[in-house]
Amino acid sequence: MNNFLDLADLDRNEIRSLLALATGLERSPQPQALAGRVLGLVFMNPSLRTLASFQAGMARLGGNSFVISTGSSWQLEYRDGVPMTGEAAEHIREAIPVLASYADVIGVRAFAKGQTLEEDLSEPVFRALSELCPVPLINMESATNHPCQALGDWKTLDDLEVPGAGGKFVLSWANHPKALPLAVPSAVVHMAALRGMDVTVLRPEGFALPEPIMARAREAAAASGGRVGETDDRQAAMAGAQVLYAKSWGCTSAYGDADQDAALRARYADWTVAEDWFRPAAADCYFMHCLPVRREVVVAGDVLEGPRSRVIPQARNRMFAQMAVLHRLLSRSNPT
Ligand code: CP
Repeated sequence: MNNFLDLADLDRNEIRSLLALATGLERSPQPQALAGRVLGLVFMNPSLRTLASFQAGMARLGGNSFVISTGSSWQLEYRDGVPMTGEAAEHIREAIPVLASYADVIGVRAFAKGQTLEEDLSEPVFRALSELCPVPLINMESATNHPCQALGDWKTLDDLEVPGAGGKFVLSWANHPKALPLAVPSAVVHMAALRGMDVTVLRPEGFALPEPIMARAREAAAASGGRVGETDDRQAAMAGAQVLYAKSWGCTSAYGDADQDAALRARYADWTVAEDWFRPAAADCYFMHCLPVRREVVVAGDVLEGPRSRVIPQARNRMFAQMAVLHRLLSRSNPT
């Protein structure tokens, strides 16, 4: 493994091996494994979990990290041939080689622009970064992917002993005041399909996940024996569900059109996950969310704090999953 950009770059055995390493590091700390190694973290967008879990994970492995974030550093340009007359004072063509001369591995977060779906699906920032970065590169959330979230969530499902083959997983759109990116829903639907689960995307009209994202998930399901479907029928989606994973995302039928998005999402302001959503589900159906989450908007507080909720161990597992990634990318004792 030379980079960690997309779970789709790994086969199931490599993912299983990373998950075993994550669990091994959770149970048996290796406080010197990455002694003397340095992780550079570049945040072009805000974070709580990703920032803290990468720094904590690197420290637990004996390494060090530094953080570059928009607001405290120069805004970065990634496009080639564009006169830099705007906010961006530095180009990634200089910034990334400079940072790579200080660090052994670099993680980058660069959200979707949210203007055109085609541009965001083409991952322009990470395409440019992967050509420039001379050290291993980690995707800490790109325009349409969040593989660190997906790997941590896979570990959470394993910890909960939710079956891969045949386990019933529902990814539901939820109410939110803003048009959020597609990175988490895209990564999560792909992860659950890759895990061999029976996956249903529950979403209202206008919020269907784009066909390339659904096609990728169907392809993963075909390889793993899983299934991927979609519906706007909550009762049908939730029948027998073992996991409800809630997440909001922007309107896809008018992607990048803020007025149409707002008008459409206003119709679905009642898509706040509540206990009654779980009536058709398995009795012990779990609730998952990547966080941050808006209470009484995305989910009712009693569900978020109730016995179904696994959001805290889910966030904790980000750290162990990422420690496994760092260990695999950097440890001299591990084959690459
Ligand atoms: N889930 C997640 O990536 O959280 P942050 O945006 O806080 O990093």
